[in-house]
Amino acid sequence: SILELRLYQGFWLPEHWVPGTIVFQRRFAPRPDDVILASYPKCGTTWLKALAFATAARTAYPPASAGHPLRRLNPHDCVPFIDDIFATGEDAKLDALPSPRLMNTHLPYALLPAPVVTGCRVAYVCRDPKDMVVSLWHFLRRAKPDLSFADTFESVCDGTVAAGPVWDHVLSYWRASVACPDRALFLWYEDLLHDPAGNVRRLAEFMGCPFSAAEDVAAVVDLCSFDEMKALEVNRPGSGTAGRYRVMPRDAFFRKGVAGDWANHMTPEMAARLDEIFREKIRGTGLAFP
Ligand code: A3P
Repeated sequence: SILELRLYQGFWLPEHWVPGTIVFQRRFAPRPDDVILASYPKCGTTWLKALAFATAARTAYPPASAGHPLRRLNPHDCVPFIDDIFATGEDAKLDALPSPRLMNTHLPYALLPAPVVTGCRVAYVCRDPKDMVVSLWHFLRRAKPDLSFADTFESVCDGTVAAGPVWDHVLSYWRASVACPDRALFLWYEDLLHDPAGNVRRLAEFMGCPFSAAEDVAAVVDLCSFDEMKALEVNRPGSGTAGRYRVMPRDAFFRKGVAGDWANHMTPEMAARLDEIFREKIRGTGLAFP
């Protein structure tokens, strides 16, 4: 594997995720209006955080306003990683968040504490695994410059990757969204690219703050668009760190922001192999990759 991993309740967690996960599982007390944003890493977490934050806060902060928090802060500084907060013993930060609280996690649905499953809502964003692998490699390379694409690809294929196997991660949320659509929403990165306004409307409805017909969804979409966010001073190279344990440079969360970049990194044989692995794993579940 490319990281030090521990098999924890059926999933491969990076060693440094384990303490926060355990405390999260034991101590998290949901509020009924909490919305947990969930994702497999590199599938659109940052974008989903920005969209959900801009949507939930749109009365307090009109999206077009120059002083909007998302113009001053990286989305990871607006919506905290729950398990990181528990890892650093900063539970009070979660208590202090105003309702409705927005938080996020990369843990699979099966590892969320039972009160989340019954007590609040979870919105998940999924992405073509081929583009996820490419994005993951570029991201990990920021910390490990000699990491090869081939090794990253192999660890995704054999399941031994952070929070993997990826297919089990995806399926855990897919099944939750089928079983309980008002508690678990399943979104696609590719759908967000194709129809951002329609998907933001779905997200808002799910979060309990639907847009009225007269309201301007486009302003939220524009504020959170890749070009806007990448160009912000706060997300430029050298602007500091964000994300898990605040170790990654903020600009590492904005690379290309497109679908299909896999074609520039893998052979058709590799693509077919990864597609086949996923096809096999999701067969009969009703889930279909775009
Ligand atoms: P690429 O590396 O393919 O460009 P995460 O936020 O889960 O870490 O995922 C990061 C991926 O989402 C990166 O993909 C990044 O460029 C892309 N991304 C970040 N912000 C985005 C936005 N506002 N719109 C579209 N894609 C975005």
